[in-house]
Amino acid sequence: MALIEVRNLTKIYSRGESALGGKLRGGGEVRAVDDVSLEIHAGETLGLVGESGSGKSTLGRLMLRLIEPTSGSIRFEGQDLLGASRGEMRRLRRDMQIIFQDPFASLDPRFRVEDIIAEPLIIHGNPHGTGRDGIRGRVVELLRAVGLDESILRRFPHEFSGGQRQRIGIARALAVRPKFIVADEPVSALDVSVGAQIVNLLAQLQRDFGLTYLFISHSMPVVRYLSTRIAVMYRGKIVEVGASEEITERPQHPYTRSLLEATPEISV
Ligand SMILES: Nc1ncnc2c1ncn2[C@@H]1O[C@H](COP(=O)(O)OP(=O)(O)OP(=O)(O)O)[C@@H](O)[C@H]1O
Ligand SMILES: [Mg+2]
Repeated sequence: MALIEVRNLTKIYSRGESALGGKLRGGGEVRAVDDVSLEIHAGETLGLVGESGSGKSTLGRLMLRLIEPTSGSIRFEGQDLLGASRGEMRRLRRDMQIIFQDPFASLDPRFRVEDIIAEPLIIHGNPHGTGRDGIRGRVVELLRAVGLDESILRRFPHEFSGGQRQRIGIARALAVRPKFIVADEPVSALDVSVGAQIVNLLAQLQRDFGLTYLFISHSMPVVRYLSTRIAVMYRGKIVEVGASEEITERPQHPYTRSLLEATPEISV
């Protein structure tokens, strides 16, 4: 069964809506996601590739209901996400988390590592109990899972490198034991070798915790390494989707071919 399934999903941004304060192209509206249907199966990684502005982040955010679609439907474990009540949505939020591109912008600089990772546990509840020791224990367990240790509990984000910060962000996303994670260009801001370590960590965590990923990237080699299947996005539409090997060895769509040509081989 599909863990998450979207049908005819469309997001049109209209002029003046920009939450980011960005300027929109002429015409008054942008069809950021245009009639997209796809599913992601439990335990797999669906890689989502496409050039800048093709709608990848918008699709990822729609799937978590961080933004509302213009039309279409989303099912998570068979449940209608867009019809969910506030209470149901609160419960569903535990199951669906996001890892961001920029580890410098995504961690609040005023909080210590311990508090950054503990925050979702305090909001959603901690499987180890709600007491201070229970929270601390869970935070230490999460730090170890992402290759860090408890000596950093009392430190602040600015004391860490990009790769370490991304590990802290991953620990925070994992805190509430999610099933589905949208990783939105999690290695694009990092050096290639540091990015490779993070990609390997994500693969390890998937095996350890049975996670399902939507892995967004503009880099075909990175996506190919991690993904079970790949969806290629172009101007708001999925132009091609299939097994990673099929997409990379026998691309059908000219745009997929151009993406493959644009990206040199790298080893992860
Ligand atoms: N909040 C917003 N308001 C208005 N337009 C937006 C908003 N967010 C994105 N867009 C527009 O929607 C389109 C898709 O943007 P999106 O960020 O989803 O693309 P992307 O594939 O993630 O790009 P990138 O690779 O640069 O991250 C772009 O034309 C963008 O300018
Ligand atoms: Mg994006």
